[in-house]
Amino acid sequence: MRMHKKSHLEERLAACGDILTVADLKEKNMKLASQQRELLDYVKIFGNSNPVHLEVGCGKGGFVNKMAVLHPDVNFVAVEKISNVMIEACESAMAEEIKGVHFLICAAEVLPKYIPEHSVERIYLNFSNPLPKQGYVKQRLTNPRFLKIYRYLLKPGGEIWQKTDDEAFFDYSLESFKEEGLNIVSVCRDLAAHPFEGNVITEHERKFMDEGKKIFRAVVRV
Ligand SMILES: C[S@@+](CC[C@H](N)C(=O)[O-])C[C@H]1O[C@@H](n2cnc3c(N)ncnc32)[C@H](O)[C@@H]1O
Repeated sequence: MRMHKKSHLEERLAACGDILTVADLKEKNMKLASQQRELLDYVKIFGNSNPVHLEVGCGKGGFVNKMAVLHPDVNFVAVEKISNVMIEACESAMAEEIKGVHFLICAAEVLPKYIPEHSVERIYLNFSNPLPKQGYVKQRLTNPRFLKIYRYLLKPGGEIWQKTDDEAFFDYSLESFKEEGLNIVSVCRDLAAHPFEGNVITEHERKFMDEGKKIFRAVVRV
């Protein structure tokens, strides 16, 4: 489905400048991107050295904004490649004066240009696009090429927390985790039947739960 460009998008993004970094979205080649690093300075952005959690593909930001309120002792960086969607996340954070969250409009492919090596304690992959067609396997956010990037960004012992409604994508992800030598800490094939304390429900999770779909969850460690 094609989304209409939001009105005054550029001005609105500029108004969120204090909590937003905008990358060059044409940049998809990690090799080229890494030649000119523009690493986020966490101390400058957050004013502290709290642990950093990263959400990749944050959409409208419901999850990360709630997490930032619940966990003021964590610094959250939320990444999304579509500005039209990200603006909603940023404007909600601004309107609610949420601290401890920074937004990065960027393709996950070039994250090491912006996120310092081994600086992240946890990565959230919430309802990433399953991209079932074989031709798009490499775009899946749990494809080994992305797992290599996450390994580079995560601290030793850091974790990836994944949730999805798509069983085939979940199984593909578990295989990818194994292929990349990540340690699978926990696997849940029905989150409603085995809830965990502190689960924050994302926009897509709410929709899929309302449709009666099962939610799958994995935690893996580098
Ligand atoms: C299905 S939505 C899920 C949004 C949100 N996490 C939720 O659970 O409601 C997936 C999001 O990931 C973003 N995304 C997909 N591939 C990406 C990439 N390579 N880099 C950054 N964001 C990406 C999409 O633009 C989309 O907004």
